Amino acid sequence: MGLIGWGDVDLRGGSAEILYWLLPAGRGGGVMTDAVVRLSRWAMDDLGLHRLRLTHSVANPASCRVATRTGFALEGTMRRALLHADGWHDEHLHARVRGDEWPAE
Ligand SMILES: CC(C)(COP(=O)(O)OP(=O)(O)OC[C@H]1O[C@@H](n2cnc3c(N)ncnc32)[C@H](O)[C@@H]1OP(=O)(O)O)[C@@H](O)C(=O)NCCC(=O)NCCS
Repeated sequence: MGLIGWGDVDLRGGSAEILYWLLPAGRGGGVMTDAVVRLSRWAMDDLGLHRLRLTHSVANPASCRVATRTGFALEGTMRRALLHADGWHDEHLHARVRGDEWPAE
């Protein structure tokens, strides 16, 4: 149905980037919002990380909504950061750090 996990894990530096996607049949039900919160809590509470990143193309409003709903604050726009099939996309950089509020369950 989809995938969620961590990339660029830096245990010494205490950070990682969350990665996810859903097949079309799995979209529209808020599954990924719930999964991002669960995995982020695990990364902070069990793995001990202190800063979690989430990046997405500016042309991906659904992913931007997932980021803001899960408490990943928008920190800026990285210009031409990722090569897609139709060319280079600007990417939003979101992050949450230890101490940020968790969204209401
Ligand atoms: C990004 C992705 C995981 C989101 O999952 P989803 O099940 O589609 O998300 P939801 O349906 O729960 O929608 C999340 C929010 O985005 C909104 N949204 C969805 N499509 C949208 C669109 N085209 N424009 C604006 N908002 C949109 C929804 O209304 C919802 O808002 P709400 O929380 O206020 O109700 C999924 O669309 C996906 O895998 N897309 C393809 C791969 C991808 O983009 N991966 C992420 C790369 S960073």
